[in-house]
Parts: sequence; structure tokens; C-alpha cells
Amino acid sequence: MKPSLFLSAWLLLVVSTTMIITTAKADHKIPTTFSAGQVASVGGLDCLGLVSDYDGASDGIIRLFLTCLTDEYQLLGVPQVDSNWIQGKIATGDLKSGETRLRFPLGTLVNDYMLDQEPILLNVESEVITTDYHGRVLQDQRQLTSARKIGTYSLAIIRVSSDGAGKRTTPTTATLQTEVLSTGDVNVRTQFSACSFNQFNLEPATGNGLDGGVATVATTVQPGSGNIDNGTSYQQFLAYINDILDQLFDQNGARNPADFVMLCLPPSTMSGTDAIGYFNSYLTVYNSNVCTYVSFGIHEIGHNLDLHHASDTLFTPRNNAEYADQVGYMGFSYGNIHAPQMCFNAAKSYQLGWYSSKTYTCTPSQCNPCQVDIGGIVSFDDANVDWVLMKIEDISSGEDYYLTYNNATGINQGTQEGANQVIINTQPREGLERDFSYLVGLLNAGEGETFTNFNGVPNGEISVEVLSIANGVASLQVSTAGGDCAVPTSGPTSGPTSGPTSMPTVGPEDPQVGGDPHFVTWTKEHYEFHGQCDLVMVKDPTFANATGLNVHIRTKLVRFWSYIKNVGIRIGNDVLEIQGNPEHSEAKYWINYEYQGELKTLGGFPISYHASSVSKSVYEIDLDSVYPNAKIVVKIYKEFVRVKLHGGKQAYGNTVGLLGDYETGKTFARDGVTVLNDFVQLGNEWQVLPGFEPKLFHALEKPQFPEKCLEPENPQGDRQRRLTESNISLEEAEAACASQLKDPLAIQDCIYDILATQDLDMVGAF
Ligand SMILES: *[C@@H]1O[C@H](CO)[C@@H](O)[C@H](O)[C@H]1NC(C)=O
Ligand SMILES: *[C@@H]1O[C@H](CO)[C@@H](O)[C@H](O)[C@H]1NC(C)=O
Ligand SMILES: *[C@@H]1O[C@H](CO)[C@@H](O)[C@H](O)[C@H]1NC(C)=O
Ligand SMILES: *[C@@H]1O[C@H](CO)[C@@H](O)[C@H](O)[C@H]1NC(C)=O
Repeated sequence: MKPSLFLSAWLLLVVSTTMIITTAKADHKIPTTFSAGQVASVGGLDCLGLVSDYDGASDGIIRLFLTCLTDEYQLLGVPQVDSNWIQGKIATGDLKSGETRLRFPLGTLVNDYMLDQEPILLNVESEVITTDYHGRVLQDQRQLTSARKIGTYSLAIIRVSSDGAGKRTTPTTATLQTEVLSTGDVNVRTQFSACSFNQFNLEPATGNGLDGGVATVATTVQPGSGNIDNGTSYQQFLAYINDILDQLFDQNGARNPADFVMLCLPPSTMSGTDAIGYFNSYLTVYNSNVCTYVSFGIHEIGHNLDLHHASDTLFTPRNNAEYADQVGYMGFSYGNIHAPQMCFNAAKSYQLGWYSSKTYTCTPSQCNPCQVDIGGIVSFDDANVDWVLMKIEDISSGEDYYLTYNNATGINQGTQEGANQVIINTQPREGLERDFSYLVGLLNAGEGETFTNFNGVPNGEISVEVLSIANGVASLQVSTAGGDCAVPTSGPTSGPTSGPTSMPTVGPEDPQVGGDPHFVTWTKEHYEFHGQCDLVMVKDPTFANATGLNVHIRTKLVRFWSYIKNVGIRIGNDVLEIQGNPEHSEAKYWINYEYQGELKTLGGFPISYHASSVSKSVYEIDLDSVYPNAKIVVKIYKEFVRVKLHGGKQAYGNTVGLLGDYETGKTFARDGVTVLNDFVQLGNEWQVLPGFEPKLFHALEKPQFPEKCLEPENPQGDRQRRLTESNISLEEAEAACASQLKDPLAIQDCIYDILATQDLDMVGAF
């Protein structure tokens, strides 16, 4: 069955470390713990700096919070510093979340868990510090970082039996023991052990107040609205979770009840998110039932292990992209208790270090391809399998490639994407830091993918080829293109410089238009046009010896933005139309206006199709017979369509349209002379002209020229508004959809769309 997709959490944040500062003696008597409503003047306070990155926003604006984790494990807010301050300190290297100590000067007030001063940042990497500002000995707790990814650790789950809002956590102690902590089913405990091949194990914590790993706590504190983007609510939220954590910690003399703590709050206590994980730390927080969902638990504890999200910007528009690599647990999370059963994508698998003994690392050089056979992660303990993970190092950028064979059996039988395909991720900084990974390829046997700008060489390419997949092993070859060992470009080349030593005629970066019409011109300029109409992406009557090429896109407005819902491609006498499909996995297509007709070639060029997950599929038109390595790729994610043109100047040098001039990137009007820098004007200029341009869509939809493109109302203002309103919880979405729909699949799609768009009205679209 299809699990529902839930946007899991903005996550965030941070913490932990081994170093602290010595110095100074206790010259003031200071409180060591704080309580709700308390105002205390502190004579200097040291704590660990945690930066929280508020995810879930789609405007590209980064909103960061700095939190002070005291040595008593209380979380204090630092409202005096804003995102700009935090970003600046991160940029200069002065602030590293979870490593940098914060020192608050004499006279700092703690007012209901909020500090009223700007901190001094202490980075003392070389010192081993055992005492704090006041000479008190520091307790060594939860300060592991990389060491934490391997070993056996205790896990405590806290549930709330009543709170100041009169609510309680839904799952009972017995439910949490059975569903989350037992050894009998797929859950956080069993699946971490399975994926790590027993290198990372979580055992139920024992000790005062814990019953089979579960603690029950009552609080009288009001949780507030749960929207931490709002200062007042943030303060209330901190008071609330500090009160709950304090109670458990107080029952444990060392204030160290467990290595990892899952805090299960009453339903909808947090808004705008259903779960939070603190980076490089011990704490994860959930709304009620979400606590029992295996994918949420592993995703959030993954943040504790310093993993960031698994993203996919190739397929996926807008705020879905951040979580859209569904190969493993750092992408979307799902509302099922014991499913899906899977592990981590290639990049996260590398970062976890569990498979290092079977990781093959190489950098292909001119004339020296890398070749290796890799088994699935599931075969890690198979003595006949030498390698399960491949890393291709890009020496110049540190943005490396990670490959696994995603064998969808056993512990990985529930992978949500790329089942039994070779997965290619990229992740920067050697794959060891808290970074997003990106899904950049999904390959079957016999398929290949080419990446540009390898090793910082302009036009430097690497090609990954899957030679075969058999008996659970994928045979891979990675080679560089261009340069001395490259095969000279075949086929008729014109011009004086053809021959083995000429530069390959690779054009600028592949231009594209995304699901969200976000255009990238031939010279890589990005712009957005949000009108609704049929548009000329590119056209060139001289393409392939006058066979001719037209690519039209049809956009649709949704409130204040738009997305591409259809693409029409003509080559020669053939016309292919592809349309996304919100209801099912399969996109719809028309070949020469015939619905789902036989799909083999377009103007003589072969067409291929494959689905990589329930919601994503890819169509490729292979232009190689005329233009080596060139292809037109259409990617579908639900109802969203994305079009990418791979290949160089030979293929696309004469095109005109929304992508601008091939050489200069100038966004010309139809006269080829006037440059239009107003993108609304440009969009309207390239509206399809019936009669003048061919008909590529089987059905006419409004508006058609001379009616103008429909414009969104006040796009900026509305977009801003949407963000500040982003507070719809999973449970609210579930309730809204379930009240109006009967079909479980429709309900799940509805929930997904509401969370993706933060628009409860989306329920009306079903
Ligand atoms: C912030 O939250 C508080 C209480 O939760 C509320 O009274 C206030 O209006 C909110 N402020 C904004 C700007 O939304
Ligand atoms: C997955 O791995 C198993 C070995 O654990 C192997 O027998 C099986 O053929 C593989 N499946 C696929 C589809 O490669
Ligand atoms: C283009 O057409 C000309 C004349 O018909 C022919 O000689 C040439 O081989 C064709 N080129 C390609 C790439 O098909
Ligand atoms: C966000 O929460 C506030 C207060 O609970 C509510 O009035 C508002 O309608 C919510 N926004 C959305 C989009 O649900």
C-alpha cells in the first residue's frame, strides 16, 4: 500500500561537544537551573551554542535561532541575536553549532528561559576543558559526536500525562514499549540495528522514573501556540519542554537518564511541524502519535547523528525538494508505525560510516576509468560482496558523488524510490558534515548519466555507466570525458577545428524549466514567470537538418504561483505531449494526439520511460544519433512537470524562446533584437501563437492568444503571507481531509498537498 507522504519536520538544530572553558572562579552565587516565570541575574554563564535552522519555508529566506544549552541541559533562548548575526558568525567560523561555547557576561538576566544579552563566542578547539566559568566541574554527558554513530546507547521516551493546556500524549506507556522499543517489529530500535548491521544499537533506558524505557511526566506549564517563529510562543515552548525534561532529569541524580531522548508531546502541541531533531545531540521532539512512526523516529534521530536532509532538486519543485529523495529515511517521513522498512541513501550511508570497510573510493582521471562491482547495502555482511558503497571524489570542489545499488529486499524492502536501481547522490564537504544531499541519478542496467563541471574543469564531465545488474550486484564504470583519451566527437562536424584535440562542444549548463516555473536560461540566469498560458520554451526550425524542434509548456496558476502541467514536444512530424498526474504514479501522454499510444520514437529519435517511485517518472528522448550525448529529459513529480535539455551548441545553438539566446543568454523578444528584461513581458512575448506555432497539446485550454496569460495576484505579498501562516499540523491536515474524503489514497494525497502547500483549502481540490 502507498504510505502517505508527510513533510517531516523542520528540524533543527544542534548540539553537544567536548570542550568547555576553564577560568574564572565562582564570584557570584548563581542559579544552576532555571524555572518558568523566573527572572534571575547571572554572574556569567557558559553554555553550548545551538543553532536551529527553521525548515519548511519555501522562500529561500534562512531563519536561524541560537539556543544556549546549559550544563544542566536546560535550553535557553537568545533572542538578542537574529538570523543575520548568526549567519555572519557561522560564515566567519566563529560559531559552530554544537561546538562553540557561549559566554554571557556578568549581569545577564535570564527571564523565563530567555537570555537578555548577546553572547561572547568561545572556540577553544585545542583545549580539553573540564570546568566552567565558575570553576564547577562539567559533567560528561551527551557530548559525543562522530563516536556516537557506532556503539550501544540508551533511549528514553517521555510521554506527557497532562499539561497546562489540558492535553495528554495519546500513546500509552505500553504502546510505546511495544511499538517503538520492542525487538519484535520494524521500529526505531530494530531498524537502526538492522541498517547498521548491529553497529548502532538503541536499548531502552533504565533508571528512576523509567518503565521499560518510557517515562510519564505531568506538567502544569502552558505550551503556547507551538510556533517557535513567534518570540512569545517560543518562550512558552522552551518553558514547556524544559519543565518536562527537568522532571525526568531530576529523578536521575546525574541528570543523565539516557543517551537519546524522544519527547512525545500531546497532539498538535507544535504547529508548522510534527517533529524536531537537534543536530549532533540527544533530543528529538514529536507531536503525539508521530512518535510511533518508524520513519519519523529514524529521521529525527538521524539529525541527532548530524545527518541533514536528503533532497532532490532535479525532480521536485518548491518546498517539496528538501525532503524529496525517497530512497531512505532522511527524505520524507510517513504516517505508518512499522513501515516503510528501508535505510539511508548513498550519501547518508557514507556519512554514518557503518559501511566504511566496504566503501570503494576513487577519482577517475583521463584514460583511467574507475570500475567496481557493488552489492546492495543489504549484502553488507555477505563475504562474497567486496563493496556496497562507492564514492567518486571531485578533488576541486569536495562535492562528491555517492553510489549504492538499492537492492529492495529484506531490511530495505520498503525503499520508496529507485528500487533495484543504482542511486547517485551528491553531498558537499566530503560527505561528513551536516549538509543536504541531492539525488542526481537513478539508473537501471545499461543506463548512464553524465555530470558536468567535474573537478572544476569547465566542461569537465564524468559519466557513470551501469554495465550490468545481476545476482544483487551492480557493475559500475565511471569515466571522464574530454581531453586526450576522449573519443573524438563522432558524426559530421562542421567548422575548422574538428578532430581529436578540439574542445568538446558542450554548451553552457543544461537549461531547464522546473515544475515551478523557474526558468534557467542558456547562460544559467534564473528567473520566474508565474503567468498561466501556453509558452514557447524553445524552437528551432533548423534542428537536426531541418527536422525542426518545438518545445511548449503549459502552466497553471495555483493561487499566487504556477506550475508546469504539460509539455509538448515536436520533432519532425511527431508530437509528444506529457502531463503530470496528481492521482497516480503514471504520467499521462499523447503521441501524435493519441492518448497512451505506442511510445517508441519522436522524429526518429528513441523515447524511453521509467518510473522511479510512486510519484516520479522520467521520459527521455535520446538525440545521440545526430547530436552525441544530447537528450531531452522530462521529469514528472505528481502533477509537476520539469523539462531539461542536455547537450551542446550543436544541438541547441539556433534555438529561440524563453531560454534566451544560446551564446549570450539575452532574453530576446520575437524580433531577435529587442532585449526584454521584464520577465512578465518576456513571458507574454513567448505565449504560443496558434497558427504560427504548431499545436502541441491535444486540448485547447484558456487562455489562448490573443487572450493574455493569466497573472497571479500580488505574488510577492501573498507569498510572504503564506510563510507566516505556515502552521498547519499533520493532524489538522489529516482531520480536514478525512472529514471530506472517503478513498484512503485520495486522503493521503490530500494530506500531502496540504502540507506541501500549507493550504487547507487544497482539500477542495479533491
Ligand atoms: C505570538 O504568539 C502569541 C501567543 O502565542 C500571540 O499572542 C501573538 O499575537 C503572536 N504574535 C504574532 C506576531 O503572531
Ligand atoms: C538482493 O540481494 C540478494 C542477496 O541478499 C540477492 O539474492 C537478490 O538477487 C538481490 N535482488 C536484486 C533485485 O538484485
Ligand atoms: C543533412 O542533410 C544533408 C542533405 O540532405 C545530408 O547530406 C546530411 O548528411 C544530413 N546531415 C545529417 C546530420 O543528417
Ligand atoms: C495559524 O494559526 C493561527 C492561530 O492558531 C490561525 O488563526 C491561523 O488560521 C492559522 N493559519 C493557517 C494557515 O491555518
